[in-house]
Amino acid sequence: MTLTDRIGQMREYFLHELSGLTTAKDLESLKLKYFGKKGSIQALMMELKECSSNERPLFGKMINDLKEELAAHCENSLTRVKAEELKARLQEEKIDPTLPGRRQFSGRSHPVVQLLDRAVDILIGMGFSVRLGPNADTDFYNFGGLNFPEDHPARDMQDTFYLNHEWLLRTHTSNVQVHAMEEMEPPIRVIAPGRCFRNETISARSHVFFHQIEGFYIDRGVSFADLFATMEEFWSKLLGEKVETRFRPSYFPFVEPGLEVDVKCTSCKGKGCKLCKQTGWLEVCGAGMVHPNVLKMGNIDPDVYSGYAWGMGIERLAILQHGIPDIRMFTQNDLRFLSQF
Ligand code: DAH
Repeated sequence: MTLTDRIGQMREYFLHELSGLTTAKDLESLKLKYFGKKGSIQALMMELKECSSNERPLFGKMINDLKEELAAHCENSLTRVKAEELKARLQEEKIDPTLPGRRQFSGRSHPVVQLLDRAVDILIGMGFSVRLGPNADTDFYNFGGLNFPEDHPARDMQDTFYLNHEWLLRTHTSNVQVHAMEEMEPPIRVIAPGRCFRNETISARSHVFFHQIEGFYIDRGVSFADLFATMEEFWSKLLGEKVETRFRPSYFPFVEPGLEVDVKCTSCKGKGCKLCKQTGWLEVCGAGMVHPNVLKMGNIDPDVYSGYAWGMGIERLAILQHGIPDIRMFTQNDLRFLSQF
């Protein structure tokens, strides 16, 4: 076969191969096959050596022309194939702007945690520091060190989850008072947010676990007036407006005197409504002056130091704040409920 025939044949093969290609990738392979260092055109070039010197320029030109011709074919095909690929992709990725959007669910904190965080922030701003007590504690920290008598009903198995004869799940965050007194010197100004556990029948109004914040301040000369002022300021800040507070005598073994703190109903401003059960007041926490026995057991001299303490249930507050009818809703993980906050 003459070189002229070979050139003609190569053109034919090339065009044949080219006609079957549909992707840019295949086209690149074809280019490599013909134009590469070890490609067909290079192989033809090598054969030039064997031509006589007067044939060589002619054949050289023919090969170069072939090369240019094939390269031009490649370019055209590449443009065409790329256009086709783009068209196919656009077809495939076609979007319908009239479709309704997909809803994005964003996470948020639980309503109880929201309230807990807000209360803690306010109290930190008022000079308290946070101490997280243990959830599982001994009888001493939960009861004995807080002046609970041996036969106090709260110590009953029916009210408290005992882990063994000594250890239990704390029934209130007041246990942190005893730990703090053991570990710190007055002035002690601590809040203890956290979970508490009680052996109750679960119902719309009570649960086996819930959250409290305990707060206490022990120093020289801490008085009832300090407790009153702290309560007024804290509750006004938490409820977002100046609220009136009211104190009623009550009993807790670890305070003397013990009090129940009420705030003027935020809904009816004291006129009486469903939220406050027509009383005009909402009961928000227990409080009092730390009992001298509690100070003594915490190695703090009650003749030198005095203190106040208060404790509040967070679920109860959230229920009041949002008008939630059932405490169990907090733990049912129903997004229809949770996403409202
Ligand atoms: N520990 C009490 C409870 O769980 C709440 C409480 C009442 C805490 C009076 C106090 C207090 O610090 O002074 O019901």
